[in-house]
Amino acid sequence: MHRGLDQTVLNDLLAFVHDCFSKDSSGHDEQHTLRVWRAAETLAGEEDANLAVIQLAALLHDVDDRKLSPETTAGLDRAVGFMRSHGIDEETIAAVCTAIRQVSFKGTDSVRPDTPEGCIVQDADRLDAIGAIGIARAFAYGGHAGRAIYVPDEKPGEDLSAEAYYAQKSCSINHFYEKLLLLKDMMNTDAGKKMAEGRHKFMEQYLAQFYDEWDGKK
Ligand code: ADP
Ligand code: NI
Repeated sequence: MHRGLDQTVLNDLLAFVHDCFSKDSSGHDEQHTLRVWRAAETLAGEEDANLAVIQLAALLHDVDDRKLSPETTAGLDRAVGFMRSHGIDEETIAAVCTAIRQVSFKGTDSVRPDTPEGCIVQDADRLDAIGAIGIARAFAYGGHAGRAIYVPDEKPGEDLSAEAYYAQKSCSINHFYEKLLLLKDMMNTDAGKKMAEGRHKFMEQYLAQFYDEWDGKK
């Protein structure tokens, strides 16, 4: 394991993240990023990987997100700007950018990262989309985007490409079938797989209870 970022850089990075997300209510908030960072450090504990790259990629993975900052997404300008202004070497910057570009869920166009650091950060980001927190985020995002909680007539899409997934505008319950329940089998690391199992089961229980309540049975 390589050593992580210097404490002063880490402190600046946390302040930068705080500034970037101060106005967001779409599920891309500062607390999401901090949870991804903590989970990534947990997963990193069991792998031979570059901790500084993991810390940077985890904390910067959403600062140039297409929903939050579309004008900087292509060049990851905010992430790169932070790293250059803190003297991070170009090799590390390139590794962080690769990990960030490979992280996101894109339906059937999702990629498995080709570095251990990318695998860890992708797992950490995906863990935050499932389980109790994932459920909360799905409905928070749905509310933000004006989606209904559940519309029985709306059937979830299957095998969605990135384009079809992004175009999807149906109810929040459908998001479980279009993304959340698929993530368990898309985890990269053994530690991530284990954590995903428990969170996955919790979502299945949640959905069973949801439908029972919907039918007025429980
Ligand atoms: P991430 O930060 O994991 O890359 P996204 O940018 O895809 O996530 O979305 C932010 C949060 O909103 C995630 O928890 C995601 O699962 C949720 N979300 C995205 N699209 C939808 C949707 N159509 N309905 C409900 N929740 C959604
Ligand atoms: Ni994220």
